[in-house]
Order: sequence, then structure tokens, then C-alpha cells
Amino acid sequence: MQQPKTIYLKDYKPSPFTIDTIDLTVDIHADHSLVTSVMRMEKHKDSVGQKLNLELNGEGMELVSLKFNGEALPNDRFQLSSDKLVILNVSHDEFTLEIQNKINPAENKALEGFYQSGPQLCTQCEPEGFRRITYFIDRPDVMAKYKTKMIADKKQYPFLLSNGNRLGGGDLPGGRHWVEWQDPFRKPSYLFAMVAGDFDVARDTFTTMKGRKIDLEIYVDKGNLGKTPHAMNSLKQSMKWDEETFGLEYDLDIYMIVAVDSFNMGAMENKGLNIFNSTYTLADEKSATDHDFQGVQGVIGHEYFHNWTGNRVTCRDWFQLTLKEGLTVFRDQEFSSDMLSRAVKRLEDVRLLKDSQFAEDAGPLSHPIRPSSYIEINNFYTRTVYEKGAEVIRMIHTLIGKQNFRKGMDKYFELFDGQAVTTEDFVHAMEVASGRDLSQFKNWYSRPGTPTLKVTSRKEGNEFILDIEQKYPVPTVKVEDNNVLLMPFKIGLLDKTTKTEEEHLLELKNLKETFRFKVNGDVTPSLNLGFSAPVIVEYPYEVADLIELMSFNKDPYCRYEATQKIYDHVFKAEFYYYKANGKLNPELTSEFKNAFQNLLKDESIDLSFKSYLLDLPTENGLSQEMLQPDFDAIHTVHHHLRKKLGVEFQEWFLKEHDRLSKASKFELTPKAFGERALKNQCLTYLVTSETKAGMGALDKHYANATNMTEEVHALQLYIASGVELEHESIQKFYQKWKHDSLVMLKWFSSLAAFSPKKSALPRIEKLEKNVLFQKQVPNYLRALYLQFAKNNLHAFHDDNGDAYRFMAQRIRMIDGFNPQVASRAAGAFSLINKLDAKRQTEMKTALKSIMDDKPSRDTYEVISKYLAQ
Ligand code: BES
Ligand code: ZN
Repeated sequence: MQQPKTIYLKDYKPSPFTIDTIDLTVDIHADHSLVTSVMRMEKHKDSVGQKLNLELNGEGMELVSLKFNGEALPNDRFQLSSDKLVILNVSHDEFTLEIQNKINPAENKALEGFYQSGPQLCTQCEPEGFRRITYFIDRPDVMAKYKTKMIADKKQYPFLLSNGNRLGGGDLPGGRHWVEWQDPFRKPSYLFAMVAGDFDVARDTFTTMKGRKIDLEIYVDKGNLGKTPHAMNSLKQSMKWDEETFGLEYDLDIYMIVAVDSFNMGAMENKGLNIFNSTYTLADEKSATDHDFQGVQGVIGHEYFHNWTGNRVTCRDWFQLTLKEGLTVFRDQEFSSDMLSRAVKRLEDVRLLKDSQFAEDAGPLSHPIRPSSYIEINNFYTRTVYEKGAEVIRMIHTLIGKQNFRKGMDKYFELFDGQAVTTEDFVHAMEVASGRDLSQFKNWYSRPGTPTLKVTSRKEGNEFILDIEQKYPVPTVKVEDNNVLLMPFKIGLLDKTTKTEEEHLLELKNLKETFRFKVNGDVTPSLNLGFSAPVIVEYPYEVADLIELMSFNKDPYCRYEATQKIYDHVFKAEFYYYKANGKLNPELTSEFKNAFQNLLKDESIDLSFKSYLLDLPTENGLSQEMLQPDFDAIHTVHHHLRKKLGVEFQEWFLKEHDRLSKASKFELTPKAFGERALKNQCLTYLVTSETKAGMGALDKHYANATNMTEEVHALQLYIASGVELEHESIQKFYQKWKHDSLVMLKWFSSLAAFSPKKSALPRIEKLEKNVLFQKQVPNYLRALYLQFAKNNLHAFHDDNGDAYRFMAQRIRMIDGFNPQVASRAAGAFSLINKLDAKRQTEMKTALKSIMDDKPSRDTYEVISKYLAQ
């Protein structure tokens, strides 16, 4: 196979041509859409007077006609290939180009460009989908003003939507109609959007800080209006929050959100017309979990916040993706913290970072938050660019302080509004506002891999001394020799007698540093408070220290960390006992029992937080810490440890579960979230204890569940307990929910993630044939295949290699119509560099079978990196 081309950041050059305006007419018919584009173009100021070829991107469409300054262009003046239209030798400095082309949304299964989702038509243009709608200079630094006229059958498509403000509309002969939209703001093509369909519409308004009234509209499938209030409320909260926190007001008169079932990602921030995966829009008490409700709020916030960080100020090129994504994730995290519980939100974000981003950064796909090369940019919408990118922004916030950060944001908009810029420009605004030189800090943008801080302590007289060393993994890309990271490192010194804690904000800027503190007595250091830097901290804690930190630490995140470290310690001891003796350790140490009991009994802890503190480390996290993980042993020991705790504290779990079961009104408050989370956590321990009382609690819980949070949790516990597919717990759920496709996604994913090892693979092969499994809809593909590979570790990593071959086969199939989803599914193989020889060989054979099948560029890039291990 011919190796696809690599694109490098160092090769960036501005486009020699710019596009001032584009007037689009999209005439929608059953078997095709006819697109007419009229563009007013100019040469870039550095190219004026030169004779140049004009290169337009364009893929998967048919060119109908081409006019230059109103006249048909002869065949020898342009060249057409599968991905480009080149107009030869353009000498004019200003001109208009009129292009007509045909596309077919109904046959577009890649879900990029203009495509069909159920009965509706919609677009996805980020990052490079606009080139599948018409020929264009499809790169984010080419910003144009858009006018869009849509024409379609009025009955089938009563709503025709695009960006900006509605200019007008009217009826046409033959039952057709037209609507025209104009977006007053310049934008890159990736923010273009169009929707045609029939919907129910939820309407509301928001009055801005300057008193402007904005129309808010949420478009959903007919019959789903009852599931929109939460999304609408979240939108209003987001608009208000951005005004109050950053002084940022919405800039158009209308804000539309359209929910569709077929979508490659979560949601998209198109100017004035967001398109959302229905999973991140629709929610009600009966069918959505608390996690779903929080997801909707977070994603609505995220896409709304992009209006300023992404749309008004956009990216110069796709290497700068973290400029908008890292910053906007930081903003949505802060929003959710303010709406819910800051402590719990921080813990969840750090958990996600450690579970997924640290793993990504330790594997074959490791890259800096601003990559320096790519084959397919779609592969770089990663945990690193997003979540580590957000941590980098958070570090700036910590280093310069909240007020300076706000000033820096003001500066950023003052300097760059309406422009396409780089991460350097962002940091520059922060430097100007804070008066601080951040040049060393910028090293974070180019270094891949998670740094480790090796910390040791000493005492000299009344001085407590910390020696800190920064260690970096061998980088996967070239990094300058003098790249030493600068980071804020918050620590606490917990006085062992008074239990008071003193906080210090350290700044690390050298590979080795020593810090001295005056102390009165013995102290326990609490390191990386609030997770101030995205690093691994190694410190030789004794279990007694950790128990001290778990009980008395002020910082909630570090308290959580301490409990996790204790579990980790206990788990490892049990694990090695099992490996050495071939049987499970029946005991629990009294030290651990006491610590766990103190946790249970502590009534000062918020309930959400408590349920997290009771969470054992995940099998995923544990496998990542081990080289050549023994997935079966991890699963067995993990289960056994939870079982021992479930048996030991059965009485407490039963009582608490019972107490939390007394009927109360369903609310979406942190308190109510906490009650349901802890109730579910108690049930997990009870069921894992495998006692009669435990199973009794499960039956009762399931029968009485009045919301999806409790209902699906019980379903998962039944599945994990090993019941047959025909068991009434599983079938009842199916019968009850078969008409709600969002709930059916939960049914499929629960079976994929929680089925016991023996039954998992054959069960999945059966589920794929279920009539409700929609085999071309990304949500369904993710629910079945990715849930299995990522969350049913011991089943997927069965060393007979069956599941690897199965997965490879499915990836090949998906790659045939949706490369983006296939390439993400290939993430199933991300642990390849950590596996034992047998599993590695099996995996490589499976991966080669994909390579032999001429995969897409997307899938090629990922698999070739895995195979290079
Ligand atoms: N701009 C992205 C959506 C996107 C990503 C489009 C990749 C095309 C390719 C959007 O703002 C986004 O980041 N969405 C996230 C959810 C968000 C809450 C992190 C997503 O879709 O997963
Ligand atoms: Zn985003």
C-alpha cells in the first residue's frame, strides 16, 4: 500500500488566496443535492501581482460547472483530481468563482460533510468536511462571510437551517420551499452547518447582560420534547455563566441546537447552529442517568463556550487544536464546578485524565498537546489535546492567579478577535496581562509523555526538606534538549499532632530542586494538592501516612488520592499473595478494616464524594500500572477484595442502602446525585458479597427503581453476577425500553462491558444480530465494540486471541464506511506495548489483517503506530 502523506507543523504557510464571501445555494433532491457556490476571492497581500495556481479541496463529489468572473472556464484552465480542483495560472488579484457540484447525502455513511441521519439531513464539517460539500480552501485560517440558501420539499423538510440570522423564505412550485440565512461573522469553513428535516422544537429566550433578547431553539425528533428541558436549562446556565465569569455575551440573535442520532462525536459548535449527538441533548428522569444529565450540561456548556474560544478566535491550523479545545474544556470544567460540586468535579476530571490520558501518553500514540505532525487530523481529537490541554490552561491559571487569568482572557479577545491564531498567541496574551514571562512554561506544548516527580523528604532540626526530581519518559517525537518543564506544585504539610495543614505553592523549573520549610513538629507531606500539575508523583509513603492523609487532609482531591493509594497497596499485596499461593487471601488486615470503617462512618463527607472514596481502583487503572498485566488475576483479586469488604461491612451497606431508599422527590442537585451514587455503591458491595441478603437487596432495588440511575446500575450488577441473557432481569429491561433507542444503547453497552468472560464474546456476536442493533450508527458501534474492548478487559484480552481477531474483523468492516469510528475502535489495541509475548503476537496478527485490507488513512495511522511496537 502507498503510504499516506504526513503533514508537518513546520511547513505551515498562509494561503496565497483568501475568500471574502461565499454565497451557497443548496438545492435538495431525493437522490442528490445540487450545490452552487459563488465566491469573491482575493490574493493574499504577499501574493498580489503573481500568477499562481489556485488549489481548492474537494472530495467525493461531481463537478457540474465552473465560471471565472462570470465566464465558463475552458478545460485547459483547470485540473481535477480525486481530492483537488486546481485553477491554473490565476493572474487576477480579485475575482469571483462560481462552482456547481453534486453530492449525495443519502449515500454518505462516513458522516462527514452533508449526510443523512434517520429522516433528517445535517452536516459535520470539522475538521475537513466542508470539502465534501463544495470545492473550497478548506483550512481554518481562511475565514469568509457566508450566505446560504436552501431549497427542498416543504413536507419532508419543513425546517431548513443554517448559520447566523434568517434573511427570508418562501414557497416554490411543486411543493418546494426556500429559506435563506446569513452569518454576519467571518468564520472558517469547519464552522459551517446546514440542517433539513422535520422536528419538534423547544423554544425559549435569554436576555443578555446588555438587555438583548436571544431566541433559543432546540430541535429534536418528533415526540421528544419532554426530554429537552434539561438541555434548555443548561444552555441558559451556560450563557449566564460566561457573562458572569468572563464578561462574554452571545453575539447573534438566535442560538439553535439540533439533536441527531447519527453523529461521529459528542457535539459540534457550528456558529449559531450547534449539532448534537442525541445522547448529549435528550434526558429525563426515567431514561437518563445522573451521569447523562451531567454530560448534557457539560457538553451544552462546552459547545456554547466555543462561541468565543474557537469561533470568534479560531485556530490558524489544526496543529493548534488545543488552543480551542484545551481552553474550552477548561472552561466547561469550571462551569460544571460552579453548577455542581467543585470537589467532586475535580476528582472526576482527574480520574478521567489518569485513567485515559496517562494511558494514551504512555502508549504508542503518545503526542504533545500541540502535535508537530499528523497523517489524519481526525486522529488528534484526543485525551491529550483535550484533557491534558485543559490541565495546561489550568496551570497558567494557577501560576498567574484568577484575576490575571481573567485579564489575560480579555487581552486575548482584544488582540485576536476575528482572527485565526496559535497557542503562542494565547500564552502571549496571558504574559501581557500578568506581566510574567511564560517562555519556559511553553515547553508543555511540545513535550509528550507524563512527567514523574520523584519526591523524597528529610528533616534537619526544625526544617522539613523536600527534594524533587523531574523525570520524563523517552519522547515519541523530537524534543529540544533544553526542554525542562515549569509547573506549579501545590503541597500541604499536615502536622501530625495538631492536624493542621499549611499550604505552599511551589514552582518547579529545574530537573532537581530542594525546598525547605520551617516546621514545629512532625509533618506528613500532601503532594500535588488539587492536582496542580498533570504529573505522576512518587513519594515513599507508609500506609500509616496515607491513613493520616485520608482522614485529616483538607484538600478533597488529595484525600481521594490517599484512599486510592491505600486500596492500591492492599490490592497489590492480595495480588501477589494470589500469584504466589495460587489461592485468594481470606483475611483483611485490621489496619485496613479500621481505615475503611472510619470512612464509612464519617458523616461529614458529602455523599457523592463518599461514593467515590469507596470506589476501588478500576481494573483498567490497575492493568495500566502493571507490565504484562495478568487480566484474569486482576479481575479475580479485584472481585475478591470487594467481596471481602462487602461481607465484612454488610450490615452497614444494608442499612445505608435502606436509608437511601426511602422515597424522595427526584432532583438534579448535588445532594440528590450523591444519594443515588452512594445507594448504588452500597448495592455494588452487597451484590459482590454474594450473600442472600445482598441478592435480596438487588431484587428490591431493581423492582423499586424509579429512575435510570438506579435501574441500569441494577441491570449491570445482574449481568456481572453471571445471569443468562434470557434471565428476566435482562429481558424485562429490553421489553420495557425497546422503543427508546437511547436506553437501548445502555442495554447493549451494559451487556458488552459486564458480561462474564466465558459468555461475553458469543453474546456480542448474538447481540449484533438483534433487530434493534443499528449497525451503521456510531453510538451503537461504540456501545457494543468499544465498551467490550475497553471495559471488559479480561474477556477482550483472553490470551487465545479470539476477541482480538473478532475486533479486527469488525474494524475492517466499519472502516469500509466510517473511517473515523473505525480508527477510534482501533484504540481497543492501545495496550499493545504492555502485553506479554503471547498476547502481543496475537494482537499483531489481528492488526496485520487490518493492514492487509488497505485501510483508510485514519485507521492506517493508528495501526501502523501500534505495529511499530
Ligand atoms: N469541536 C468538537 C467536535 C468535533 C470533534 C468535531 C472532532 C469534529 C471532530 C466539539 O467541540 C467537542 O469537542 N466535542 C466533544 C465533547 C466535549 C464536551 C469535549 C466530543 O464531541 O466528544
Ligand atoms: Zn470542543
